[in-house]
Amino acid sequence: MKKNGLIIAIDGPAAVGKSTMGKLIARELGFLYIDTGAIYRAITWKVLKNNINIKDEEMISHLVSDIRLNIERINNQRLNDYYRIFVDGEDVTGEIRNPRIDQNVSQIARLPKVRKQLICLQRKLAEKGNIVMEGRDIGSVILPQADIKFYFTASEEERIKRRYKELIKKGYNIDYELVKKQIIQRDKIDSKRKYAPLIKAKDAILINSTKKNIEEVKDKILKIIRKYKEYRENKIENNII
Ligand code: CDP
Repeated sequence: MKKNGLIIAIDGPAAVGKSTMGKLIARELGFLYIDTGAIYRAITWKVLKNNINIKDEEMISHLVSDIRLNIERINNQRLNDYYRIFVDGEDVTGEIRNPRIDQNVSQIARLPKVRKQLICLQRKLAEKGNIVMEGRDIGSVILPQADIKFYFTASEEERIKRRYKELIKKGYNIDYELVKKQIIQRDKIDSKRKYAPLIKAKDAILINSTKKNIEEVKDKILKIIRKYKEYRENKIENNII
């Protein structure tokens, strides 16, 4: 019987803490961590660099079929420098967090052709298992067979505050109201798009992180994962799956 590695999917709206938690859990379990948002951000970076109209699905789809995307894991334990992402050999890890990308990424991520082109890549990244993959449609479209699915929520106000603080810390001179506008707009586009919208998969576990600290959420999630691992190992030992 084949014993594949565990697949953990995390979905949820903007600035809900998926990345922080995803990296923490992956580090704790020794799993690979894949931030699919970084892929959409990297594509947006290239679209803007080439002055392509963000509504031009044909041109963007063409760009995606040509793009060379690489994600490299860094062998250190620091969460804010956990991996690097390259577009055609150029390191864009920092630049894809620029508010200019926030402003445009959802317009590109809503294009069905682009999403379909990226399905294979994301599934391939997950094929060996022992992976934490986060995004908007991981549990619903990309990896519906995931062993454990989490859907994160937190109040809109808290998410806006978190993202604002994060951007200020990174040195961006950005207005709170603009961060608010971008997050609300992004969530709206992400959840209302026709193809692969942001939704909670039926079998996803809801994690509300409003007013909870990182350690509390992490412990809760790790407990769920460990319980599931035990249950699965028992089943494998007894030849049930
Ligand atoms: O970190 P944050 O929550 O702000 O967003 P992100 O995870 O970096 O994702 C950036 C954008 O990419 C989202 O607002 C979506 O428009 C898009 N995205 C998506 O459509 N599907 C995914 N699986 C991941 C991201």
